[in-house]
This record gives sequence, structure tokens and C-alpha cells, in this order.
Amino acid sequence: MRDLAEIQALTAQHVMNTYNRLPIALVRGEGVRVWDTEGRPYLDFIGGIGVNSLGHGHPAVLAAIRDALGYVLHTSNQFYIEPQARLAERLTGLSGLGKVFFCNSGTEANEAAIKLVRRWGRQDGRNRYKIIAAQKSFHGRTLGSLAATGQPKYHEGFEPLPGGFVYVPFNDLDALKAAIDEETVAVMLEPVQGESGVYPADLGYLRAVRELCDAHGLLLILDEVQAGLGRTGRLFAFEHYGIRPDVLTLAKALGSGIPIGAMLARDEVAQAFAPGAHGTTFGGNPFACRVALAVLDTIVGQDLPKAAAGAGEHLRWALEDLGRRRGWVREVRGLGLMVGVELEGVTAPRVQAEAQARGLLVNAIGSSILRLLPPLIVSREELDEAVGILEAAMEAASAV
Ligand SMILES: Cc1ncc(COP(=O)(O)O)c(C=O)c1O
Repeated sequence: MRDLAEIQALTAQHVMNTYNRLPIALVRGEGVRVWDTEGRPYLDFIGGIGVNSLGHGHPAVLAAIRDALGYVLHTSNQFYIEPQARLAERLTGLSGLGKVFFCNSGTEANEAAIKLVRRWGRQDGRNRYKIIAAQKSFHGRTLGSLAATGQPKYHEGFEPLPGGFVYVPFNDLDALKAAIDEETVAVMLEPVQGESGVYPADLGYLRAVRELCDAHGLLLILDEVQAGLGRTGRLFAFEHYGIRPDVLTLAKALGSGIPIGAMLARDEVAQAFAPGAHGTTFGGNPFACRVALAVLDTIVGQDLPKAAAGAGEHLRWALEDLGRRRGWVREVRGLGLMVGVELEGVTAPRVQAEAQARGLLVNAIGSSILRLLPPLIVSREELDEAVGILEAAMEAASAV
């Protein structure tokens, strides 16, 4: 096996420079732990940025992959695909939304959602196409999803972006109301804004947004690419709010490491797509769908959302306790195992580096926020170990 320096040199020479990478190459994983090229273990509290919900090397995922090798890997959507139909049956049954479109990533799921609501908005002869999105949102990097993303720094240099997107402050109902006009077709929100720093929607806000959408005949698109599938302590984050969206996007954890995305919609909305309206070669590929079925069965069968709720409570309590005892923690935010830690007196990149040196992987957002997305199977002991490492890391970072 190549060592880290060689891998870094090859990457620098041949891979486009679009990522800031931590100086580690991970080669093995088991449960919540991963090992690098030097054989060093880490507790993985990044989880492939919310992908590895079942941890690494989960037996159900490995069994599904082995099983899938006995069947055709790929056929294209020119043919019927049994695992795709079965996964669709399962997802619609669980979400209460009637139809699914399959793709390969979060940004594609949102791209599909944007196209679907635009089609729907023109069906009755009116010209409704505008989507109201939130400031500080993140919906992906392809042009449509990027246009929906309310962070100007990601738009820079890529203009002109597709038009028809309006941005309002998150959790501000009056601003949302004021942004609606006769061309508005949908509101698009993350129930918990993840990428920008873990900001949950207020309970009353999402409920009121649902009512507002109903009152104005608008569609509600919820992007649960990061928050969905058990992460927040419910299978779908919208369950916390007692509402259901008209359109829902999923990806990340759905394949627990195998790329797959999904866009679900109510039947009446989904019918706006007809053959030729949208498509993708790999979407709903038999291999990815077999694995995703096993992932869903495991998440639901083992009630991992409930486990995530309990583990999240434990983690947030331990982090708040750390803050009370030692300082450095201004606020702990989040739902379930989607946790943001607002720091004070230490910088997030420094704490991230010190944690990494002590065997814990976390995600730094900007200069003051840590994002923790541990696998849903994380134990209390692993949570306590991680918080212990964070305490040592913050202490070291505060001395710099
Ligand atoms: C809420 C949300 N939507 C969309 C995306 C984009 O997903 P992908 O990177 O799979 O395209 C992300 C990625 O972080 C996300 O957090």
C-alpha cells in the first residue's frame, strides 16, 4: 500500500483542487472506528459527512453487497428493475409520499425536485416557477441546486445561475410571507441546516410554513439529504414538526456508502413528470437499490432513529457539561445525532486538528463551529470517549 505522502503527491498532481483535505488517508473501518495508512485508529464523528449512518463494515450492508454480486449490476431505466421497485415501495410506505425518482446524489435529488415543481407550477396555465429558499441553506453544487443555495460565496464566479430563486432569513415567517408573489411555486428548506453550522428549524416555524404553503397553493420541498433517515432521532426530520412535505429529497445515508439519491413527491405532484421529462443513466441502479433496501431495513428494523435520539441527548448533555466545567462551549445545537458546537476562546480548525491528533475526526465549519455526525450505532462509551478527546483538544487549542 502507498503511504500518505505518495497519495498526497498523486492527488496534488492529478486530482482537481476542489477540496481542503485533512492530512489522513483512511483505509479501513469497523463500526465507529476507522484506521489510516499508518494503522492509526480514529473515532469517526464525521461519518463521510452524514453518509455512514450504519458505521463502517456493517454486516447488513456487506451481506447486501455480496448478495448483489449474484445479480445484474446495472441495466439502465430502459428496463424494469425489481430492487428499484421494491425500494420505492418501502420509501413511499415509510414517508407517506406516493412516488419516487431515483438518482445518485443529494444535489441531483434537489435538481429533480426543482424541475418537478416547475413543471407542476405550469400545469394549470399559470406561470409559477419561483422557489423561496433560505439564507445559509445548502442544497448542492450543480447549477440548479447551487442557485437554491442561499450562500453567495458558493455562487461566486459561476454566474449566471438559473433564475427564479428568492432567499429569506431562516426561521423568519414574516420574511417568507412577504416574499410570496403570483409566480411563486414552492418553498424549499432544510429542516436542520447542516452545512452552514447545524441550525434546526423552530417547531412553530415549519408548522407555520406548511400552513402558509397550503393557504397559497405552494409546494413545500424539504431537503433531508443530511437530516433524513434517522439522523435527527426520527426516520424523517419532518416528523418532529408534525407535518409532511409535498416533495422530499434524500441521499447520503440512504446507501450508507453506496451513492444513491431519491426525490419523493405526493402523487398529485409527481404526475407532473412524464416520460422524457427527467432521467439519469445510473438512477435506481439495481446494485445501489439492493444495498439501500438493506440499509433502510436495518435503520427501521433496529429502530436506529430512537437510538439516535437517545445517543444525541447523551452527547448534547456531555458537551454542555464540558462547557459548564471548562468553558469553550458557547452553545450546543441540533437534533438527535446532528450536533453543532459553537465554540468560544478556541478556533474550530485548531480543535479539529488537536482532536485528530488524539484519535477523533470531527468537522470544523468556519472558525467557530464543530459539526458532529457520528454513526447512528454509536455507543454511550464511544460518545464519552469522543467528548473526553474533545475536552483535551479544546484545552490544547486554548493554549495556542
Ligand atoms: C442538505 C443538503 N442538501 C444537499 C447536499 C448535496 O448533496 P451531495 O453532496 O450528495 O450532492 C448536501 C451535502 O452536504 C446537504 O447537506
